[in-house]
Amino acid sequence: MTEEIAVIPGDGIGQEVVPAAVDVLDTVGDFAFVEAEAGDHVLEAEGEALPQETYDLAADADATLFGAAGETAADVILPLREAVGSFANVRPARAYPGVDALRPETDLVFVRENTEGVYTGIESEIADGVTTLTRVITEDASRRIAEYGFEYAAENGFDDVTVAHKANVMRVTDGEFLDACEAVADEGGYEYDEALMDALAMHLLLRPEEYGVVICPNLAGDMLSDLAAGLVGGLGLLPSANIGPDNALFEPVHGSAPDIAGQGISNPCATILSAAMLLEHLGYQEEATTVRTAVEGVLADGPHTPDLGGDASTEDVTEAIVDRL
Ligand code: NAI
Ligand code: MG
Repeated sequence: MTEEIAVIPGDGIGQEVVPAAVDVLDTVGDFAFVEAEAGDHVLEAEGEALPQETYDLAADADATLFGAAGETAADVILPLREAVGSFANVRPARAYPGVDALRPETDLVFVRENTEGVYTGIESEIADGVTTLTRVITEDASRRIAEYGFEYAAENGFDDVTVAHKANVMRVTDGEFLDACEAVADEGGYEYDEALMDALAMHLLLRPEEYGVVICPNLAGDMLSDLAAGLVGGLGLLPSANIGPDNALFEPVHGSAPDIAGQGISNPCATILSAAMLLEHLGYQEEATTVRTAVEGVLADGPHTPDLGGDASTEDVTEAIVDRL
């Protein structure tokens, strides 16, 4: 079967890094790529940032590769994550030989709950100058992210699993989250540690080598994974996956980078590593490893784009990766 992959480059450097990742996918596999538009430039031309046909394409494809949107990012990526039924946001943060990193020993994967917590949008101004936000934590969603996180750790060879929370203050909601994680761990025979998310931020910075998979409620996962991005040498290297029950969307963590867009110097590695996650998701483990090894080789030996201190173009780096496949 030829899988259909929806390809949504979006704005800015999305238009540069997504074609690079498609080249890589095309080299290692036999996929049907269907391209669709979204983002600021579509809002300008058509009056909406995410046309229904793009949403439908992502919902119906076997997997989606997304670049980035600009100012319309929230209007594009949140519905797209919903289109694929995503409940888990998986964000690996790993340092690579050849790349200057604050903490070269970092090899972390954040498994972030992607549907609730404080990102429910249930906010109100209940009186002049008094505002509230409702934090939703359900047993179902907590169990689902815990199951995904523990299984991910087991399948990918991580010994350390940490559940991030703040149940000493948010006793009811994070109490529920912790109880669900504990129940899933008991049932599956998984081992893990708990960590208060604020203290964890410091420990990740000081001793990242003591951590592996970190299972997080929504906001904690967003913040801790960005912190980890800083440990490994920048946004140009960070892939991510949005996983649903039977569909998924893959995207670099970075945005549309208007400061360098159009110059052909964006680093394609984050998007190519996202494509490797896509391959893995579709069951092409060997191809995923081949792509990762090629990226690691180029990171170690060059060429490098300017964000990594080199003077190579997006195309040079992509060619060097494809040559190694
Ligand atoms: P950004 O990630 O686009 O850029 C931050 C800095 O990192 C910039 O200096 C940029 O040049 C650099 N950078 C990012 N990716 C790079 C790459 N692949 N190679 C080389 N350098 C890279 O974040 P920023 O500047 O905060 O936002 C720019 C736009 O992107 C905004 O309109 C924002 O709304 C949007 N955005 C979209 C996201 C999405 O679609 N998922 C996520 C984050 C931001
Ligand atoms: Mg974020």
